[in-house]
Amino acid sequence: MGPLATRRKVLNGLVAMPASLGIGAAMAGPLPRCLPRQGRYVGAAVTPELLLSEPAFRRRLVEDCDCITPEVHLKWEAIEWRPGKPWYANVDALAGFARLHGMQMRGHTLLWHRTTPAWAAARIESGDWAPVERHFANVIPRYSDVVREWDVVNEPIDTENGEGGLRRSVFHKGFGAGYIERALWTAHAAAPAARLMLNDYSLEYDNPVDEARRTAMLKLAEHLLARRAPLGGIGIQAHLDLAKGRFSQPRFARFLEELRQLGLHLSITELDVREADRRLAVDQRDRLVAAEVESFLGVALANPAVAGVVTWGLSDRHSWLQQEDDQTRAALLVSPPSPVALNRGLPYDARFAAKPMQQAIARALRAEPAAAVA
Ligand code: XIL
Repeated sequence: MGPLATRRKVLNGLVAMPASLGIGAAMAGPLPRCLPRQGRYVGAAVTPELLLSEPAFRRRLVEDCDCITPEVHLKWEAIEWRPGKPWYANVDALAGFARLHGMQMRGHTLLWHRTTPAWAAARIESGDWAPVERHFANVIPRYSDVVREWDVVNEPIDTENGEGGLRRSVFHKGFGAGYIERALWTAHAAAPAARLMLNDYSLEYDNPVDEARRTAMLKLAEHLLARRAPLGGIGIQAHLDLAKGRFSQPRFARFLEELRQLGLHLSITELDVREADRRLAVDQRDRLVAAEVESFLGVALANPAVAGVVTWGLSDRHSWLQQEDDQTRAALLVSPPSPVALNRGLPYDARFAAKPMQQAIARALRAEPAAAVA
């Protein structure tokens, strides 16, 4: 979604929206949280539009989660598309919701090459760090009471077209490999107690691309820690993909353990599953998705450094995976969409019915043995 579309959608959703998203009194107070936590947080990516328009989504969210991640609206471009005129109403609404329900909010994300406003990108690329400094100083303290973890740099790794394993982003072009350390220090100045993280994708599977990316991430983390940069953790996005085959249990476990031994915290930040074959029977599809999640979380949650799990949405109806796919885009034009036509890679279907993936997450959080997979 481009900045204009984002803004328009957002403005529509915001008419007369108070800071807590207007669902205060009746829902305030402690709510039953269905999922077991064992000291870990459980979250989902959300938008204010969804919280406003989908009571079923809100209900599931407060039942299952104690953490939200802004799916779109905390990204720099969504806040400051006009230089020097940041607009916080959407993130304020999400933070208000989190406060009201005693949740935390993940700080996703301060720097991402895909959502840096054009005006800032031009300045950064020419070697001007001031926009970054101002952005961090604006945003970080505003949410310091609800945000404990910041994704300071999103997706810094690129082993295919990058340089030394790092993406040739505008930040890299302006400041070289040192931009990551500099961003961490800039964030640290605004939030000395927060957990400052790098967040990335394709770190899970047993193939040469993911293996190279794991190696690059590990090397980057070691380098930053050797220089005493304030790196607190690594976010594993975990956009699982059934077309990639079974994920690499032993290799992934070793990777997490290597990061843990560096003293880092870990989070599963964007869990969902892209299906490989939607012609199968629905219950078989749901079992395959659940089995992938359960075997992934079985490894991830066996590591005590993993602090929490966030799914990238809750219901298939609102999954970002549908946006990229012709088949599901067409299905979404029918209201309500057929739950069968959509990718089924989130805990709830398009009508908010719990699927086996939801039970798989609960079992993994309780560290129960996996259900038999047909
Ligand atoms: C995605 C959102 O889900 C979409 O709505 C938006 O159009 C683009 O960004 N990795 C990330 C997330 O770190 O921020 C991305 O979120 C999905 C991939």
